[in-house]
Amino acid sequence: MNIEFADRVKRLPPYLFAEIEKQIKEKKAQGIDLISLSIGDPDLPPPQFIIDALEEETANLNNHNYSFSQGEPDFRQAVAEWYRKRFHVDLTQDQVVALLGSKEGIANVSRAFVNSGDRVLVPDPAYPVYANGSTILCDGIPVAMPILEENSFKPDFDAVNPKKVRMMFLNYPNNPTAATVDKEFLKEAVDFAADHNIILCYDNAYSEISYDGYKAPSILEVDGAMDVAIEFHSLSKTFNMTGDRIGFAVGNKQLVAGLTKIKSQIDSGPPVYTQKVAVKALATYTSDEPPDFLKKTVQIYQERRDLLAGTLCDIGLECEKPKATFYVWAHCHGEGSMKFASKLLNVGVAVTPGIGFGKHGEGYARITFTQPKERIAEACARIHSLYR
Ligand SMILES: Cc1ncc(COP(=O)(O)O)c(C=O)c1O
Repeated sequence: MNIEFADRVKRLPPYLFAEIEKQIKEKKAQGIDLISLSIGDPDLPPPQFIIDALEEETANLNNHNYSFSQGEPDFRQAVAEWYRKRFHVDLTQDQVVALLGSKEGIANVSRAFVNSGDRVLVPDPAYPVYANGSTILCDGIPVAMPILEENSFKPDFDAVNPKKVRMMFLNYPNNPTAATVDKEFLKEAVDFAADHNIILCYDNAYSEISYDGYKAPSILEVDGAMDVAIEFHSLSKTFNMTGDRIGFAVGNKQLVAGLTKIKSQIDSGPPVYTQKVAVKALATYTSDEPPDFLKKTVQIYQERRDLLAGTLCDIGLECEKPKATFYVWAHCHGEGSMKFASKLLNVGVAVTPGIGFGKHGEGYARITFTQPKERIAEACARIHSLYR
């Protein structure tokens, strides 16, 4: 039998990291001590209270049945309370849906609203799921909105053709550029979406990882956002729970209802015990200030950030000290990003070539600080050896 992938699967772009991943495997097989500054997965464990809560909630035999597709009522209530404390935004439970990580919601939201041939605006560079897992796999057409350094990595809405655009993705604090925005920009985005009848999907997965007094806003803080926007959130980065797969989407009731409808045909909601743990995690916020354990986590990241960004700049790999996320978006010394990443691999340092995030990521590399300081210092020394 001749088994072929569906056309939408064939339309997925080639996987650009395949060659780099092959090289990483080879290095590991050769027993080379590889320092991975390439993945967006915190090296720090979840705080102890989460581990204790997981033990307790998994031991409860009532927590092993199917959960509601939209999420358990106490989970949705906890999310609504977190939004009130953290962003001063009021939500009702029907404006919240639980997700198996925000990636799942980002991928599924298009199924509810994007028709075949609809155009979807995606930033370039960007987290690849907006264009691929979400748009292309729903037979939509991704339309790149360049986010360029000269525009502080924000799209220029005046340059966008809004014809037949159904949906737009935005993500700040941004992966991979680590750019941040203020509410003024978010208001511009909301107005643009409202003027052209575009659904605005706002990915806020990194809102809690921020430095130097920067506080990431929610798009829902902006006037008019509740009419056009759905915001995606996650416990992955905030609580170091990437593998536990728990996130949520909130905002416009119709948008939440559409996503819920799709999910009810696809999955049965995150495990009840994970949601119960998430309730306890979110309850650690008593105001819009981060709880103590998070302050400590952010302090650790901040020290690593200062070391990494400072040393890269000294070496001549121009970059900004990010105000949020755990990424440094560095210039590749005038080289192509694939070549740059490959060269670094030869000295045992893995970074992500910017081209993997879109055409406008070329000339940059995303370098993560999800490794202890000593390893970052060692990685910087190895990179330095290439540029002396
Ligand atoms: C910008 C962005 N959004 C969403 C996600 C998905 O995170 P999760 O599915 O773990 O919530 C990631 C993960 O790296 C990300 O970088």
